[in-house]
Amino acid sequence: MSRLSDDWRMAHSENLISLIYLSSEAVPFSEQDLIELLEKSRQSNAALGMTGMLLYKDGNFLQVLEGETEKVLALYEKIRQDERHRSLTILSREAISHRDFPDWSMGFRDLRSPDTVRRPDFSHFVDTSLTAADLSADPGRARKLLMFFKEDKASVKSVGAC
Ligand SMILES: Cc1cc2nc3c(=O)[nH]c(=O)nc-3n(C[C@H](O)[C@H](O)[C@H](O)COP(=O)(O)O)c2cc1C
Repeated sequence: MSRLSDDWRMAHSENLISLIYLSSEAVPFSEQDLIELLEKSRQSNAALGMTGMLLYKDGNFLQVLEGETEKVLALYEKIRQDERHRSLTILSREAISHRDFPDWSMGFRDLRSPDTVRRPDFSHFVDTSLTAADLSADPGRARKLLMFFKEDKASVKSVGAC
């Protein structure tokens, strides 16, 4: 009988899911508002073992939350009731065997920031809006967009980059 690897056991005993949703701000977020949102979220997410990435563009948010199923669903429920944003649309919710953002209590990018716009490889996404019209038909595109920022933790200086 083959033995299961420790990584596999760990991932499955953790019962992980990833949930990706879109929303639109209900009140305009200033840079300070975003910083405060991120500071609080990162603190709380770290305590809950929650990881992910939040993208912001023209008043719209795209967020991926990763963690234990119950914790992700409870957090999403809280986020859903937050009156600072509206029109939440879940793009995908799936069981995962490993985290895509293990080192991020909540990564963040403002897609309009000069650091982002200047990146040559960002041109694939430059015209993409964070709306259901652009992303709901192809959740894979939303995931690619989130993943795009994963590797450049050190190089990006946009607001609140952690
Ligand atoms: C776009 C958006 C993303 C958010 N992401 C998170 C998050 O990742 N983690 C978190 O704890 N709160 C997040 N929040 C804040 C929650 O909605 C809520 O305000 C927060 O969990 C505080 O809950 P509490 O009043 O129980 O402390 C987010 C809010 C918005 C508008």
